[in-house]
Amino acid sequence: MGGRQRVKKKHWFEEIAEHLGPTYLRYSFTYGTTQEVDTLMSVLALDPGDSLLDVGCGPGRHAHEFASRGINVTGLDISEDFIHLANLKASENASFVCGDARDMPYMEEFDAVISLCQGAFGLAGGPTLQNSKGDPDGAILSCMSRALKPGKKLALSAFSSYFQIRYLNENTTFNAETGINHETTFVKNEEGESMETELWTSCFTPRELRLLAANAGLEVEEIWSVDPGDYTKRVPDLEHAEYLLIAHRPNNGEKK
Ligand SMILES: C[S@@+](CC[C@H](N)C(=O)[O-])C[C@H]1O[C@@H](n2cnc3c(N)ncnc32)[C@H](O)[C@@H]1O
Repeated sequence: MGGRQRVKKKHWFEEIAEHLGPTYLRYSFTYGTTQEVDTLMSVLALDPGDSLLDVGCGPGRHAHEFASRGINVTGLDISEDFIHLANLKASENASFVCGDARDMPYMEEFDAVISLCQGAFGLAGGPTLQNSKGDPDGAILSCMSRALKPGKKLALSAFSSYFQIRYLNENTTFNAETGINHETTFVKNEEGESMETELWTSCFTPRELRLLAANAGLEVEEIWSVDPGDYTKRVPDLEHAEYLLIAHRPNNGEKK
């Protein structure tokens, strides 16, 4: 990715994104984009011409899919490499910015906000957690909430604590105090070179998601148990890897 000046990394995921590059899109969890966007178009009540903020958009798979349906998308990601990849695919309705979800400037600008597949929400723990006051993922949710126009909806997916503990494997350690799952794994770049890396993923129960949402000034509509590529209305259970939170920012005057 010649020519671009490297700045000091702000988040541990940036090094992973830099190594992965386009191979990120070979992971099977990225294959369900169309089904996910089909469902979210309806759940978020989106129409062509509406605006959407995709927080932690990665290489822009959801952003491009929404844009192809006439939604005006802003994709934000902390990784320069992923923003570069997102920009390689020209799109009239999608623009991409490098930015930190922990410090987003948007105020009441969007008809919908999403954070999918640990797009910032769920990755705020780990080595960057130490100096944070309060819950760092909750702080991201508050920034997402502020970006919504009153009355408009947000959707985010989050790892299920119950599922993680139930199916814990030898490469992962679940921290009961923080709810963070720590995993050591290998990621391959386009040349097939392996890099050992660590992942710190925040996991949640539906109750925690409800409490964080209330704290962010959101009204929870539904929480579903989902898997990537299988966003289906389903009561929260112990059998699916993620929860999908759907909430809205109350209209001025709507009772919270
Ligand atoms: C697992 S990827 C998910 C990408 C995309 N949402 C998807 O579903 O494919 C997580 C993304 O979140 C981004 N990210 C993590 N922390 C972030 C932060 N604080 N601000 C912005 N982006 C962040 C990473 O750079 C990465 O692109």
